[in-house]
Amino acid sequence: MFGFKLGEDFLIGTSNAAFQCEGAWDRDGKSPSVMDYYAEKYAGFVPEQLPGGPITKREGKPYTSEVPDRGCFFYDHYEEYIEDMAKTGQNTYRFSIAWPRVIPTGVGEVNPKGIEFYNKVINKLLENNITPFVDILHWDLPQCLMEKGGYANPEFPDWYEAFAKVCFESFGDRVKLWSTFNECDIAVARGYGAGTFPPFQTDFENSLVAAQNCLIAHFRAVRLYKSLNQGGKIGAVNCITPITPVHLNEEDLGAVERQMEWRFGWWTEAMLEGHYPQRLFRECPEIKAAMPEGYQEQLDKYFVPMDFIGINYYSASRTQYNPNNRLLSNYVSSFYSAPGQQFTPYPPGLLDVLQYVSQRYHNIPIYITENGCALPNVYDKEKECDDPERITYIREHLRMCARALRMGINLKGYYYWNDADSYEELDGYRIRFGLTWVNHETGERVWKKSRYYFSEICKTRMVD
Ligand code: NOJ
Repeated sequence: MFGFKLGEDFLIGTSNAAFQCEGAWDRDGKSPSVMDYYAEKYAGFVPEQLPGGPITKREGKPYTSEVPDRGCFFYDHYEEYIEDMAKTGQNTYRFSIAWPRVIPTGVGEVNPKGIEFYNKVINKLLENNITPFVDILHWDLPQCLMEKGGYANPEFPDWYEAFAKVCFESFGDRVKLWSTFNECDIAVARGYGAGTFPPFQTDFENSLVAAQNCLIAHFRAVRLYKSLNQGGKIGAVNCITPITPVHLNEEDLGAVERQMEWRFGWWTEAMLEGHYPQRLFRECPEIKAAMPEGYQEQLDKYFVPMDFIGINYYSASRTQYNPNNRLLSNYVSSFYSAPGQQFTPYPPGLLDVLQYVSQRYHNIPIYITENGCALPNVYDKEKECDDPERITYIREHLRMCARALRMGINLKGYYYWNDADSYEELDGYRIRFGLTWVNHETGERVWKKSRYYFSEICKTRMVD
């Protein structure tokens, strides 16, 4: 029969991240994360006033006038959320552990209340036959560690490995799918280099140090995990944007390659093969010259391959040769526009990236760890719960997954971003991705039409 089948062992579910969904940012011993701190610090600012200059082209838009102190109230209502996941029929849920909840001082003493919370979440998921997929760090570094330089501090790999150890020892008997980091590229290239993400720094050389430290931290956690023999899998989550050239000439084609290597290969090639993309170093000597001393020896010392790759896919882009740019290229635009949507969707691009990753990285197991439809908050419950755009979005992307499976791509799972309307970095509560609608004042929750639709797919394992 012709159709879009996902198969019985395919993992399908929703995702969210600690600082975006939990709320309770200062309860039960939790300390502020970098995301809490900068949201508060820049509340009400317009992007142009931030250290790195414009964040987006949406001129005059406040960075955020809200802080992630509520999220979707997951900390208080995790049981109801998980019961809803069970009713949806999903067999997995991806979430992250808040480092400042588990080790409020960043390094050292473990907060029993933090451990207790994640134990309750994990146990409730398992009682409902929902496989937990856990990110060790989804951007919310304890602010006390950021004050010491964060990722750029040479001690970062020690701090991170110690935190990962606590996670494995506390939860590894039940969690069998781990990711070390979510989207290092954003935290490091934008956070330390471009200055458009916490901690809003613009020091290119330091951003390369931060990147190197993240990779070493990643390898150390993977090695540690494997030495514990807990019987699960460990990978990392990177963001990916398929890029096409503006002109079909060699210069623009080269620009495409460099952008892909800079945004995705930088992390993925290093994590899977133990070196940075060589083409970038050849063609952009400025990058090579700024690299920290002994970087390759250090990679050689710590490198260990991971089991799978998680990719976050939202939209596509085009690029063009630009001799005045460090990468000799720049993004120009997305070529699909959807009114009111901030991440311009391009469903066929999902198949493009699945093919690309699969071919480039030798049929590695892949999870789509994020893919989600952002619609503006219009402060109208009925309108927001009636979301045909999101239904189309899910259908089209999941059809691409079914096609990928038919083609033999080693695709293991799909996580819709996100489970419920939550806090969005740089946008506060102004956009909504969720399958469950949330009133951010009262905590009221309502299933959107898209959740009923997603539920049918989860239950039938077929896409219409
Ligand atoms: C990727 C990030 O991992 C997540 O935190 C964010 O909310 C989504 N992109 C949408 O911007």
